[in-house]
Amino acid sequence: MIRPLQTSRLLLRPLQLEDAEAAERLFPHWEIVKYLTSAVPWPFPQGLVLSNYRDVILPAIARGEQWHWSLRLKESPAQMIGKISLQIDEWDNRGYWLGLPWQGCGLMTEAVAAVNDFWFDDLGFPVLRAPKAAANIASRRISQKTGMRLIATLERDYVCGRLPAEIWEITAGEWRAWKTRPAAREPV
Ligand SMILES: CC(C)(COP(=O)(O)OP(=O)(O)OC[C@H]1O[C@@H](n2cnc3c(N)ncnc32)[C@H](O)[C@@H]1OP(=O)(O)O)[C@@H](O)C(=O)NCCC(=O)NCCS
Repeated sequence: MIRPLQTSRLLLRPLQLEDAEAAERLFPHWEIVKYLTSAVPWPFPQGLVLSNYRDVILPAIARGEQWHWSLRLKESPAQMIGKISLQIDEWDNRGYWLGLPWQGCGLMTEAVAAVNDFWFDDLGFPVLRAPKAAANIASRRISQKTGMRLIATLERDYVCGRLPAEIWEITAGEWRAWKTRPAAREPV
């Protein structure tokens, strides 16, 4: 069910167990985890990425319930730089993180567009929902830049504590219209 994807700058490779080694170095940083759900332990135990990939994520991919990709720059495909994922859930269908050196260049916005296409066109789901901390400006901005709507506000427990949270949504029809809108060539 899962397959490699690409964008103009990125290769999205279906997650493999060997990706845990790079993720162990790139993921456990406060600036990356602070707005993730409190299910992520902090301090982050060594070896948890490997056991999580082996015991939780790869089996969920095999069951057809989740889809995870490592992100790589086309210009240096040997290096994992982040991860993006989709999952079957009523309120939480997409997650992502990018290593600190690669943030702020529009890369995750590209990756989001690629996995949105996969969610709606390959998998055929009618709607995609993504929760996020209201304080997570970068993630909110990605939702805004990819045509999502804010549908609910609530409170959730994050690694950095309990915070106002938001749920963003986009339907398949809205995503297709967003991609082909007349102003698509204009900066958002
Ligand atoms: C969220 C994350 C993946 C964004 O990746 P990225 O590749 O840097 O994102 P992009 O460059 O595609 O877009 C980010 C947007 O937010 C903006 N932004 C980032 N930090 C910001 C800040 N502190 N204040 C205001 N805007 C900010 C960027 O300028 C950009 O908007 P623009 O294109 O209008 O300039 C990255 O910050 C990350 O890994 N964060 C930690 C994990 C996380 O929070 N995941 C999401 C959980 S919901």
